[in-house]
Amino acid sequence: MTGAGRAEAEGAAEQPLAGGRATRGVVRVGDTVRRPPRDNAAFARALLRHLERAAPGLAPAFLGQDAQGRDMLGWIAGDVEPSLRDYGDAAVIAAARLLRRLHDATRGTALAGESEVACHFDCGPYNAIFRDGLPVAWIDFDMAAPGRAIDDLAYLVWMWSISSQANRAPLAAQCRQAALAARHYGVAPAERAGLVAAIIGRIDGNIRYWEAALRDLRRVAVSEEKARAMLRWSHEERAHMLRHKAAFAAALDAG
Ligand SMILES: Nc1ncnc2c1ncn2[C@@H]1O[C@H](COP(=O)(O)OP(=O)(O)O)[C@@H](O)[C@H]1O
Ligand SMILES: [Mg+2]
Repeated sequence: MTGAGRAEAEGAAEQPLAGGRATRGVVRVGDTVRRPPRDNAAFARALLRHLERAAPGLAPAFLGQDAQGRDMLGWIAGDVEPSLRDYGDAAVIAAARLLRRLHDATRGTALAGESEVACHFDCGPYNAIFRDGLPVAWIDFDMAAPGRAIDDLAYLVWMWSISSQANRAPLAAQCRQAALAARHYGVAPAERAGLVAAIIGRIDGNIRYWEAALRDLRRVAVSEEKARAMLRWSHEERAHMLRHKAAFAAALDAG
């Protein structure tokens, strides 16, 4: 086979994976995912290697790099939902427990550094693999870093249970589910009060992320229009949390 023919044959075996927002060129090749490494690759690889031993099945295996320098990850069978929607209680509880497993597997290890745990820091449903409607594994560790467990949980609660959008669950249901997530994660009562502030902090982080993306669109895998929409949405989310801060705090406090 000629070089070009071989490349074509290899190309044919590469199946583009849509659904991500940040990384261009993620493809599936057989039982592997090939992913151009991002700035955080060294930490993400070390974390995946650790999780393979400490929490099997929780995240893809890191299998090294291919001839093109792309990270090779184990393919995890299941579904990924690219956009946000309301989830049932069972999915939210499973997500909270899945995050707790990540934190428990990294607490006190070198990966947590001086911090409490290694955080995923992007633990939305769009970075979870679902089977039978429930999240069973995390993918996409580009944002992972040492941090406070509550900040990671805050992001999870926001992504899975809270929304400013009119077509989403009513406020009372959001409050109830936020408390459910905190309970099943196992937040200590004394820490529950900090969760609302942590959620607002994570929304602020998101606003900074999309502002930076708009200054340099090479950072993301979406159009300028989509990045602007993401920034607008982040501001709406912030306003929603500020408006209903007391209601969320009361629900979390009641447990
Ligand atoms: N290990 C994996 N197993 C199965 N699917 C994966 C895996 N890694 C990525 N994917 C799929 O590829 C898509 C994009 O990958 P992701 O790592 O989330 O990139 P991005 O940084 O763009 O969000 C995901 O939405 C998912 O559908
Ligand atoms: Mg992703």
